[in-house]
Amino acid sequence: MIPLRRAVLANRCRYFSASPALCGDGKGLVLGVYEKEKEGGLHLTESATSFDSSVSGKLSELLHISGPALKKGKSRIFYGIHKNFPCVAVVGLGKKGAGVCGMEKWDVGKENVRQAVSVGCRQLQDAEVKHVEVDDCGDAQSAAEGAALGLFQYDQLKSKKKAKVTTQLHGSADTEGWERGMLYAEGQNLARLLMEAPANYVTPTAFADTIEEKVARHAERVTVHKRSQAWIAEQQMGAFLSVTRGSEEPPVFLEIHYKGAPDCTQAPLVLVGKGVTFDSGGISIKPSPSMDAMRADMGGAATVCASVVTAAALKLPVNIIGLAPLCENMPSGKATKPGDVVTAKNGKTIQVDNTDAEGRLILADALCYAHNFNPRAIVNVATLTGAMDVALGSAATGVFTNSDWLWEQLQKASVVTGDRVWRMPLFQHYTRQVTDCQLADLNNIGKYSRSGGACTAAAFLREFVTAPHWAHLDIAGVMANKDEVPYLRKGMAGRPTRTLVEFAGSLAHLG
Ligand code: BES
Ligand code: ZN
Ligand code: ZN
Repeated sequence: MIPLRRAVLANRCRYFSASPALCGDGKGLVLGVYEKEKEGGLHLTESATSFDSSVSGKLSELLHISGPALKKGKSRIFYGIHKNFPCVAVVGLGKKGAGVCGMEKWDVGKENVRQAVSVGCRQLQDAEVKHVEVDDCGDAQSAAEGAALGLFQYDQLKSKKKAKVTTQLHGSADTEGWERGMLYAEGQNLARLLMEAPANYVTPTAFADTIEEKVARHAERVTVHKRSQAWIAEQQMGAFLSVTRGSEEPPVFLEIHYKGAPDCTQAPLVLVGKGVTFDSGGISIKPSPSMDAMRADMGGAATVCASVVTAAALKLPVNIIGLAPLCENMPSGKATKPGDVVTAKNGKTIQVDNTDAEGRLILADALCYAHNFNPRAIVNVATLTGAMDVALGSAATGVFTNSDWLWEQLQKASVVTGDRVWRMPLFQHYTRQVTDCQLADLNNIGKYSRSGGACTAAAFLREFVTAPHWAHLDIAGVMANKDEVPYLRKGMAGRPTRTLVEFAGSLAHLG
């Protein structure tokens, strides 16, 4: 008994004769355990309980001798307990019955499942398991999200790649929840892939082609238009064109129409995403350190387009139009210069005092265009300002909206997904700072430049909106993950794709 105990305490328990090397040939299993309510008790999930009886209580025996109790988000691997599952990862789910926390504005139970399952799946991936079955942990959708989000890694361009792992629901009837979770997570992973990939791979053209490919299998409900530079000029999108001038890469205005509503004439939700595939700052060039992160400055376009792809895969009964102005922001002899004045689609003139405040310029024209579709709501998403990151960091997306109704819908959706939003102000105070301009109707930077930068950017966008239900989501703070979201590895985050999908789905119920 003593050698076994020592092995267990090493947190890499070997039981019987199976060795970790065998795991590569077999299947792995992730099972959940709740925090003990009383000392000495062990609270396994339903699936873990039936697994435990199928191995005559060996699992609970091992968990007892390997104490202390598994903390939330921690895992322990047991080898050789079951002939079909050479590796079993037991993961800590925290307290059973945890629900929505009013302060945290998310569902603690769902977050715990996502975190625990992601940890278990990754541990099994490290043990070179190729196929993992996953306990639904009482919430199959969150379990699937944890598995697929946790395993995602962008290593397409590396010679040495992480082992691919396939996953499957274990011992639960809620296959629908599992499938839904998989689609939500795959949507976010598509956004992560587009954001993480280098800018010489994801050009405006390559971005549009990728999305076109992704929706090809839903061709009966989705149409894609890849509008050219000539079309953009015809549309008199002078603000968008001014940003594209310095780049050799042709811009694209991507337009995706998803018709999912039973009544195909139903007013659409229009999503608009900032698609700057690389933001050097232009003539107002950015400092070199960390400039590489600006390959993800198309995060708005990525999350919006991935949401439309996901809505189509889920067959959500709503109509959605996704719009993405795509371009690079580069310096050159032809590039827009500080002080230049350009004219947006709605005729407003803009003095471009800082060419690095380019997102609001491309969105201005896209927002004007969005009004053509008689939208029930317009939601734009953009990595718009460093100031947003200063304000909220990566805790939540900042939402600036003229509609209490829209705010409520977005917040409700984000409580479910755990990819949170936080409301920000749209005061006239900020509008005055962009309308007080020497040469034109508007200046593209606030007159007190750094103060309230996220708010002046939002006030600028508002000048291009007449729709009663509009929201601007500034995602600069949530663009990348270090280790804040435990079920996402380090890298570009693809946030808040799942919140957008959940929100679009909720509109279906509202009719
Ligand atoms: N793409 C950036 C904002 C950004 C910064 C996104 C960091 C993600 C992480 C945007 O185009 C920009 O450069 N904004 C300027 C605006 C300023 C010039 C008024 C900024 O935030 O510094
Ligand atoms: Zn910029
Ligand atoms: Zn930018």
